Amino acid sequence: MPSFTPNSELDLLFSADLIPTEVTSQLGSDLHMRPLAKTDLSRSHLSVLSVLTATPDVSTAQYAQAFEGMRACPNAYFTLVIVNRNTDQIVGVGCVFIEQKFIRGLGKVGHIEDIAVDKSMQGRKLGLRIINALTTISEKVGCYKTILNCSDSNIPFYQKCGFEKKENEMALYH
Ligand code: ACO
Repeated sequence: MPSFTPNSELDLLFSADLIPTEVTSQLGSDLHMRPLAKTDLSRSHLSVLSVLTATPDVSTAQYAQAFEGMRACPNAYFTLVIVNRNTDQIVGVGCVFIEQKFIRGLGKVGHIEDIAVDKSMQGRKLGLRIINALTTISEKVGCYKTILNCSDSNIPFYQKCGFEKKENEMALYH
């Protein structure tokens, strides 16, 4: 019997039906991909993200409030996770945020954000599977393109995921 929590027992951010089976079928038998759950703070969500940047602790209530804030914007936040079926802990995460535009006949753009794979699991194609799932979702919900910002050192990874380098990123920190 697997020890991970099945989707049916979780409060999920979006419908798991949107996650493509072509991607989930390529995961190892020890892994499960699903939408973010309201209780994922207790499954190492933030510690997995800490390979990417600073992720200070938040309380269970603060986490749940942020989750509900995202879910209150239907078809905007698609955060998914990969869970180790033996430990019920998260080993990889990623998000595509859908931006509604007025240009291009009310077009939509998918923004890929916060991709992270636990150090012990890097190199097993989990990053690639997360990107493939997110770009499929972006396309399914009607986006005409999917974009992201990354460091120079991650350019080869995103090229392997099918992305090409375009234009520049500008930032103003507050
Ligand atoms: N440089 C060159 N090639 C790379 C790199 C890299 N930095 N990372 C992965 N690759 C290659 C792999 O070798 C593999 O190539 P192959 O198909 O020829 O074997 C291919 O890309 C797919 O790699 P994965 O195994 O799927 O990569 P992984 O699961 O390790 O995930 C990731 C990659 C997400 C970058 C991971 O290393 C990570 O979490 N890094 C720290 C956090 C981070 O930088 N996240 C991305 C920030 S950008 C954003 O969030 C939009």
